[in-house]
Amino acid sequence: MADSMPDVVRRKPDWMAKLEREFTIGKEDLAGIAKDMLAKMEVGLARENTEMKMLASFVRKRPTGHEVGTVYALDFGGTNFRVCQLDLTDDASGYRFHAVKFKIPEELKLAPGEKLFDFFADSVNSFLNQQGITLTAPGAVPDLREQLKKAKLGFTFSFPIQQLALDKGILLQWNKGFNNPGVVGSDVVELLHHAFDRKGIPFRVTALVNDTVGTLLANGYKNPNTTVGAIIGTGTNAAYWESVDRIRKWTGDKSGDMVVNTEWGAFTPQARLLTTYDKRLDDESINPGMQVFEKMISGRYIGEIVRLILVDLHSRGHILTNVPRLPAKLTTPYEFDTEYLSRLAVEQVQTSSPYPIVQQVMAEVGVQVLEDDRRKILEIAELVALRSARISVAGVAALILQQKLTQGTTVAVDGSVYELYPRYKQHMEATLVELLGTVTGPAVTLELGKDGSGIGAAVIAALG
Ligand code: BGC
Repeated sequence: MADSMPDVVRRKPDWMAKLEREFTIGKEDLAGIAKDMLAKMEVGLARENTEMKMLASFVRKRPTGHEVGTVYALDFGGTNFRVCQLDLTDDASGYRFHAVKFKIPEELKLAPGEKLFDFFADSVNSFLNQQGITLTAPGAVPDLREQLKKAKLGFTFSFPIQQLALDKGILLQWNKGFNNPGVVGSDVVELLHHAFDRKGIPFRVTALVNDTVGTLLANGYKNPNTTVGAIIGTGTNAAYWESVDRIRKWTGDKSGDMVVNTEWGAFTPQARLLTTYDKRLDDESINPGMQVFEKMISGRYIGEIVRLILVDLHSRGHILTNVPRLPAKLTTPYEFDTEYLSRLAVEQVQTSSPYPIVQQVMAEVGVQVLEDDRRKILEIAELVALRSARISVAGVAALILQQKLTQGTTVAVDGSVYELYPRYKQHMEATLVELLGTVTGPAVTLELGKDGSGIGAAVIAALG
């Protein structure tokens, strides 16, 4: 009977109303997040070892769009390692980009650092082999080794790095489920070069780059009006152009601008904004108390939040009452991938629907979902994803305000959540208007910075 009841008279269960209240962050609270973040950014610009790390990138040159030549980039994000080649041309197309993706095996995420770097070196070898280049074979051309040795090579390492120079930087902490011993505190460029030496690869890194910095520069190459680069993927973070005299901890030349990597994922919002599920996820994670903002936003975590909610509601007899034992994908931490959320949300919450896609996706997860529960699952996924989009905008707003812009600007965003979660961009846009206003504030345009981390690292390497 319940299923044929028109929606208007279908009463929302109390537990759903409570969930909605907990996951809905209103305009005032978003403005509060932006304000707190701005204050913490100021502290991070003044000192080391702060919550918002505000890391100097050593990138001070803006691309003109007229750079030419072949440059390479290695892109280590979290899910994949990509080997990229970028041919910069002076024609209208700007560049040709070619990349080969190597999925990082799950077991490498906790393996000794050497193993991870060996995997990178092996991937570079496979890439070169695919291009018909064999470096180790008898008779391999020595000239070619010399050529590669001199090539410009960007290395995107998407974790917090304290840069000591453009081509040198120390890993401060692991995130996104990685915890390889022997890397924190070391120069990741040196570790990569050691792996290259073990595997006979002549390449040498000329620029070490965070993915947000890469995204900002790659977009700036096409659109000089870009002032922020953000990633909302496995992890989340943003970088922006700052005037060097405001980076108080910077002891070098104070003239001009420099890109600052904010590491906003480490921002901790006020505790009252966290739900019991956020707290549980954090407590049970490998880095409790760290990356709290990231844990509310990014792809590594939002599927897990939904999983925790579903398991809890099931144990309290509110949903999936037809399923006596939940399948492994719902009982095992991190098995309910954020990709499922993106697939569920292809369907929109409607007044009346049998929700065939929800049924199909959840069948893959291992449960037969009754019609009434399908809508609830979709609503829960939407609540978590919408909160993610909204609070990431609070971060964007903080960066826009920090820059004291007087005219409109472009924010380049890349990452699987932003790109693949249906309507994520629209949710962000609506929240931007809500937060910054259309009349008083500068117009902010969001642009997909596709492949920005790889392209940007190559552009930065080209700039030298
Ligand atoms: C890392 C950042 C990175 C972001 C997006 C975070 O976990 O700390 O350095 O930019 O993920 O990949």
